[in-house]
Amino acid sequence: MVTRIISITNQKGGVGKTTTSINLSAGLAARGRRVLLIDMDPQSNSTINFQIDPEDSIPTMYEKLVEDNDINWKKIIRETGIQNLHIAPSSLNLAAADYFLLNKKDKSILLERLIREIRDSYDYILIDCPPSLGILTVNSLYASTEVIIPTQLTYFAFEGLKQLLKIIEMTKKDLGNSKLRISGIIPTFYNKRTKMTRKIINDIIDKFGEKNILTPIPKNTSLDEAASEHKTINSFRRNASGAKAYEKLTEEIIGQEKQNGKK
Ligand SMILES: Nc1ncnc2c1ncn2[C@@H]1O[C@H](COP(=O)(O)OP(=O)(O)OP(=O)(O)O)[C@@H](O)[C@H]1O
Ligand SMILES: [Mg+2]
Repeated sequence: MVTRIISITNQKGGVGKTTTSINLSAGLAARGRRVLLIDMDPQSNSTINFQIDPEDSIPTMYEKLVEDNDINWKKIIRETGIQNLHIAPSSLNLAAADYFLLNKKDKSILLERLIREIRDSYDYILIDCPPSLGILTVNSLYASTEVIIPTQLTYFAFEGLKQLLKIIEMTKKDLGNSKLRISGIIPTFYNKRTKMTRKIINDIIDKFGEKNILTPIPKNTSLDEAASEHKTINSFRRNASGAKAYEKLTEEIIGQEKQNGKK
């Protein structure tokens, strides 16, 4: 059984990476999968969502990744209050990772090595990436077997996808993670009625192929309200359109397990 390690990534901010990381993780855990969510974003939104104070919960991913002192994962990984779902918290200090890792040999492949120590304990490891293409994102991509890209359907967002694709290709070719594949693009804040939505969807299909477009997540203020209450959408309002969309997305991701030769 091969662990699926999935970066939830997009260098654009506010496209739903964290909302997807949280609700997909929780959905997979509810279906009996053993899930670890790694928060690689210095903003620590996933960490905060699970009621962990990123300024008062050392050690975090910062100590694990940047400080060279061999901290056991057991000290980093925490319970979330949701069965089968663990989290490796972030801290604001991670913002300095680029600076501290600049001259370090193997700076792009550190996370991959660290994840090897724990991957067998999980069916899924999801990585909530920061909105940048810096060292944290490159480490996440190199450590991953798959990438999921949430994106809004705007012109600039589509241009951003092309840049992201280049970084993914670089990770595969220059760094040598040839197993990395794009498992899909999630249209977020989705409103199928606008002309622009249809245009960008067609552009994405041309560039990435139709089968790479995953369940769209509609714009739904319940998702934002759930975040403000530090809850998953299912525990906050399970009939909300956002909850139903994330349920469907979870089923879709589970449906990919067979083609991954997992179960
Ligand atoms: N489908 C949606 N409908 C309405 N609000 C949403 C939706 N998805 C996310 N939000 C809200 O939009 C904001 C941005 O979402 P989120 O934090 O998930 O994006 P992000 O890509 O992780 O942002 P960042 O790049 O800053 O890490 C949050 O306040 C979130 O609650
Ligand atoms: Mg985020």
